[in-house]
Amino acid sequence: MMKNKINWGILGCGKIAHKFAKGLSTLKDARLLAVGSRSQEKAAEFAAEHKAERACGSYEALAADPEIDIIYVATPHPWHAANTRLCLENDKAVLCEKPFTVNAAESASLIAFAREKKLFLMEAMWMRFFPVMEGLRQWISEGRIGEVRMLKADFGFRAEWNEESRLFNPDLAGGALLDIGIYPLSLAYMVFGSAPEALTGLADIGTTGVDEQSAYILRFEGGKLAVLSSAVRTKLPHEALILGTEGSVRIPDFWHGTEAWLESGGRKPKRYRFPITSNGYQYEARAAMDSLRAGQTEHPLMPLDESLAIMQTMDDLRSLWGLRYPFE
Ligand SMILES: NC(=O)c1ccc[n+]([C@@H]2O[C@H](COP(=O)([O-])OP(=O)(O)OC[C@H]3O[C@@H](n4cnc5c(N)ncnc54)[C@H](OP(=O)(O)O)[C@@H]3O)[C@@H](O)[C@H]2O)c1
Repeated sequence: MMKNKINWGILGCGKIAHKFAKGLSTLKDARLLAVGSRSQEKAAEFAAEHKAERACGSYEALAADPEIDIIYVATPHPWHAANTRLCLENDKAVLCEKPFTVNAAESASLIAFAREKKLFLMEAMWMRFFPVMEGLRQWISEGRIGEVRMLKADFGFRAEWNEESRLFNPDLAGGALLDIGIYPLSLAYMVFGSAPEALTGLADIGTTGVDEQSAYILRFEGGKLAVLSSAVRTKLPHEALILGTEGSVRIPDFWHGTEAWLESGGRKPKRYRFPITSNGYQYEARAAMDSLRAGQTEHPLMPLDESLAIMQTMDDLRSLWGLRYPFE
C-alpha cells in the first residue's frame, strides 16, 4: 500500500518547471518535496516560490534524495537521456518532458534501463491527458464519427530569430519537428493507435541547419492518412481535424484544447466544452501518480513503445531531410 502523499522532485528549474509546479500544487495527494538545479541559488528561489522543502544545488543531489518517489525532468531535450538515466540509476520513477529524447537510439536505451530496473517511466505528453482528448477518444470508440480516415493537424509559430536559442541551434537539437511537431505526430499515433506504415515529407532547412518549417504525411494501416505540419518561423493554425466516414471532430488549440466541435450523422457541428482546472499540467502528474499507486511501470495512455515509435518516426523524417545533429 502506497503512502498518502507521493513525493515529487523537479529536475531543472526553468520555464516549464514553474508551470508544472503550479499544476502539481493542486493535487492534494502530491507533495513537491525537492527541486534540483545546477545553481544552488536558483534552486533555493524556486523552492521558496513553490513551497518545496528542499533545494538541491545539483541534479545528482536531487536524484540521490531517498525520500523522493518520482522526478519530473524539465530540462531541454538534449539532456533528457542523461538526466532521466541519472534518476533511474537512483531508483526514482520519472516523468520526462517531451520530446522524450533526441532520437530513437537514446529512447530505446532509456526504456531498456527502466524496464531492467522495473521503474515507472513516461514521456510528459501533457496533451493526451486533457479532458478534451478523453472526449475525443470516447467519441471515436463509440463510433460517433464512423471509421476515422484522416487527421489534419498543424502547430507553428513565428519565433524571434536567435541562432543560439534551442529552437534554431543544431547543437541543441533545434528545429520545429522535435520541439512542436511532436504534438501533431503524437496525436496521430493516439488516434490511429499504431505506427505508420509509410511516410513522406519536406522541410525548409534554414541557415543554422535545422527545419524551420516542415510538412509531412503519414499513412497508417488501412490507408488512413495524417497530414501534419510544424514551424518555428511561420504562424500556423493550431487546429486538429479528425475526419471519419460519418462525421468529424475539430479541436481548436488541440495541444491544450478546452473545446471540440462534433459533426455527426449529417447534423450541424455542435460545440462541446471541456474545461480544464488550474493550468492543465496536473493531469499528466495525476496519470503518473495513478500508475505509481497501481504498481504500473508505464501508463496505458502514453506507453513507452509508443514514445519510442514516435521518436523513430521523427528520425525517419529527419533522415529524409538529411537533418542530422552534429553530436549524432
Ligand atoms: N509541455 C509543454 O507544454 C512544454 C512547453 C514548453 C517546453 N516544454 C519542454 O520542456 C523542456 C524544457 O523547456 P523550457 O522551456 O522549460 O526550457 P528552459 O527554460 O530553457 O530550460 C529548462 C532548464 O533546463 C536546465 N538545463 C540543464 N542543462 C541546461 C543547458 N545546458 N542549457 C540550458 N538549460 C539547461 C536549466 O535548469 P537549471 O538552471 O535549474 O539547472 C533550465 O532552466 C523541453 O523539453 C521542452 O520541449 C514543454
